[in-house]
Amino acid sequence: MTRAIYPGSFDPVTKGHLDIIIRSSKIMSQLTVAVMENPRKVATYDVEKRIEMLKVVTKPYKNVEVDYYEGLLIDYAHQKNVDIIVKGLRAISDFEFEFQMALVNQKLNPAIETLFMMTNSKYSYLSSSIVKEIAALGGDISSLVPPEVHAMIVSNFKLD
Ligand code: PNS
Repeated sequence: MTRAIYPGSFDPVTKGHLDIIIRSSKIMSQLTVAVMENPRKVATYDVEKRIEMLKVVTKPYKNVEVDYYEGLLIDYAHQKNVDIIVKGLRAISDFEFEFQMALVNQKLNPAIETLFMMTNSKYSYLSSSIVKEIAALGGDISSLVPPEVHAMIVSNFKLD
């Protein structure tokens, strides 16, 4: 059994995130997509909405579950008895911080490995912040987020 956790703030989940979920779920027997708090960011969508969006888009993938954890990623992985963390890497700009986090997590628990998956080049420019900025200024985000998420954002979850 290769079980992994794909953590993130998913605020909201983008097509880039979903691409990493689909590709890593093909490699892992079980993938937990974990909504977590990023202390460096203030979330736009509350946890319930972020989970709801993720559950809808991951429904077709039977070995993918969605969960939430408040606390250290490494403690969550230990509690779930999972020893692989999957992270998506977009560009050099992601690397420095992700490298630091992977090394800190390795220091905290050397039994848990961080594996990096390169972004699909189609989505290398994409981030949740960019999606929110475009949406907040009235732009079209339909090509940036999964269709279900687009529908949820425009119907229920309008940005204030
Ligand atoms: O999608 P993001 O915002 O880049 O995800 C970052 C996240 C949530 C994975 C990261 O902030 C995180 O691991 N948060 C949990 C707290 C923690 O373990 N911090 C890392 C110490 S190095």
